[in-house]
Amino acid sequence: MMKEKKIDITYTEYENLSQLEEKDRILAETAIRAAENAYSPYSKFSVGAALRLSNGEIITGANQENIAYPSGLCAERTAMFYASAQYPAISMESIAIAGKKDGTLCPSPATPCGACRQVMAEYQDKGGRKMEIILVGSERIWKFSKVDDLLPLTFDSLK
Ligand code: THU
Repeated sequence: MMKEKKIDITYTEYENLSQLEEKDRILAETAIRAAENAYSPYSKFSVGAALRLSNGEIITGANQENIAYPSGLCAERTAMFYASAQYPAISMESIAIAGKKDGTLCPSPATPCGACRQVMAEYQDKGGRKMEIILVGSERIWKFSKVDDLLPLTFDSLK
């Protein structure tokens, strides 16, 4: 018998930063500031990421582009790879992401690309705890409580 299946994704929408709990607000503001460190002469789109580790430390990242386009890297992955390379034993608690065009925060949140979602899934699994994702726009903010909500049916057939 054929059976239609459905996947539910849950996230919370906030209207502005003041509605977030303090540690999330700090992370979101840090991501907005981190976008200033983007090196994005080709797309002229700046993305900042702020990653809070389970020891409370915040690691920032920003997109880094290259004239050979695929050599560049998204903001999220610069932060996660740095964190795992520096602190391999410390799990990742929450990541905030903010995209800016012409130096202005986009009204709607910048949503991470598929490759970044895949990398988030790996580190969530490695850390053995849920990783929250906070997508920051100037008109709305979306909070996901785990990577599964952004990347359902993650590849895990090697396990
Ligand atoms: N980018 C990120 O850094 N993160 C995202 O979530 C989306 C896209 C970067 C990659 C590239 O440098 C620029 O934004 C335009 O795609």
